[in-house]
Amino acid sequence: LQLKPDYRGAYHFSPSRCWMNDPNGMVYLDGEYHLFFQHHPHGDTWGPMHWGHAITRDLVHWEELPIALEPDEHGTIFSGSAVVDWHNTTGFFPEKPGLVAIFTHHDEQPDRPVRQSQSLAYSHDRGRTWHKYAGNPVLTCEDRPDFRDPKVFWHELSSRWIMVLACGQRIALYHSPDLKNWSESSVFGQGIGCHDGVWECPDLFELPIEGAPELSRWVMLVSIGDNGQGAEGSRPQYFTGHFDGEVFLPDEASQQIRWLDHGRDNYAGVSWSDIPQQDGRRLYIGWMSNWRYANQTPTGSWRGAMTIVRELMLEMTPTGVQLLQRPVHELASIRQPVLRLDHAPLDQVRQAIQQLQLESYEWIIRTGKEVSFEIQVRAGAAGCTRIGVDADSAQLYIDRTQSGQSAFHKDFANRHTALLQTIQGERELRILVDTASVEVFADQGRTVMTDLIFPEPGANRVMLTAAQEDAGLYHIELYDLSGSVS
Ligand code: FRU
Repeated sequence: LQLKPDYRGAYHFSPSRCWMNDPNGMVYLDGEYHLFFQHHPHGDTWGPMHWGHAITRDLVHWEELPIALEPDEHGTIFSGSAVVDWHNTTGFFPEKPGLVAIFTHHDEQPDRPVRQSQSLAYSHDRGRTWHKYAGNPVLTCEDRPDFRDPKVFWHELSSRWIMVLACGQRIALYHSPDLKNWSESSVFGQGIGCHDGVWECPDLFELPIEGAPELSRWVMLVSIGDNGQGAEGSRPQYFTGHFDGEVFLPDEASQQIRWLDHGRDNYAGVSWSDIPQQDGRRLYIGWMSNWRYANQTPTGSWRGAMTIVRELMLEMTPTGVQLLQRPVHELASIRQPVLRLDHAPLDQVRQAIQQLQLESYEWIIRTGKEVSFEIQVRAGAAGCTRIGVDADSAQLYIDRTQSGQSAFHKDFANRHTALLQTIQGERELRILVDTASVEVFADQGRTVMTDLIFPEPGANRVMLTAAQEDAGLYHIELYDLSGSVS
């Protein structure tokens, strides 16, 4: 008897049951990294939205907690953010600092147009229980039907809160002294970036430039909704520039469209708030799906998973500042070493891996820039997922046309590519494979691709092929990641 696969990842967060989409309200407090999420607790497809809740203490192991926010008289609970109100600007915390969630109320009635507005909830007990603010909503707008996904942060220089908010195909910036009273500062997005779909889930934060810590830039993340055309569906875009507390001014490099992820399945991602200064990292997580087929993916009695937690960084390149993305170092804590080879010819690698059976694992592969190669993961009798590099065109690809189940949507089985930016002589791919996903970080995080896959049961073989069998030496590291996460 062959059981239907459930496809729950070994080291990715997914809800214990029912539907999940965007990550919400990520905030750190007292040793806990909170992750709230768009959740429909009565079904395995999108429906009336709640905020589900999970925490992690090490960015790898997750514990799901009871639902944090439920729909009320103002509507259902759409995406938003959370902050620690350290200085009690809200007056909610006379005794000690606590959490404030800033989220969208989505009000859909049969007899009038949809209304979206921004509201507050606060918690005195590390996010375990929440009180909706009696003055909700705190920000409304009559003439913007798409008016959602507030991401809020404290701006030191101007000593006030800043909110970035998605409005149609623009991002509106607001400021506030107390999270309750908001004034509009500026609007970003005209004549710049990709406008293929509605703009959603913005984020704005400052990052130092690697290797030149006295220099910094601001990064604006904007997710682009699925417009039903083309093959891509929904995807995440980013801009770099300057921010003076009122206006985000994109830099030269942002005149070009830039994708945070070149795969199909990383959407609505934003960063954690209130990471302690001595840590200083900008931590990010995305929803590992695509609106094109999110409601149809063949998982068990749950649907939707997050990416692994990633660190975002900036580097200076000849064409301007660009975003880098790497798995957080904490992920290494669950590695079980399987194999390591240095300067090995293809034949030797092949011999070393031919008996391996792995489902959830990490591959690191380094080889010369001139070498075209392909790695086959989750390979079984009927197919595999192909991850490869074409050296001539300097392209990275994922081919999931034969990766397993794909009949649930006509746009799922495809092959997609991204330009590599290998700077040193060596090319590196770091590949995280799990039960139903692959995440590829090329060249220290310069090019990233995240894809869902639904392999046939038992597809656990690993293979390596190359265009020229006798060319190239490989550095290989393989780590099992399946055992250590409950
Ligand atoms: C993005 C999004 C948000 C919205 C939420 C609703 O995926 O469409 O704009 O707040 O999902 O679930």
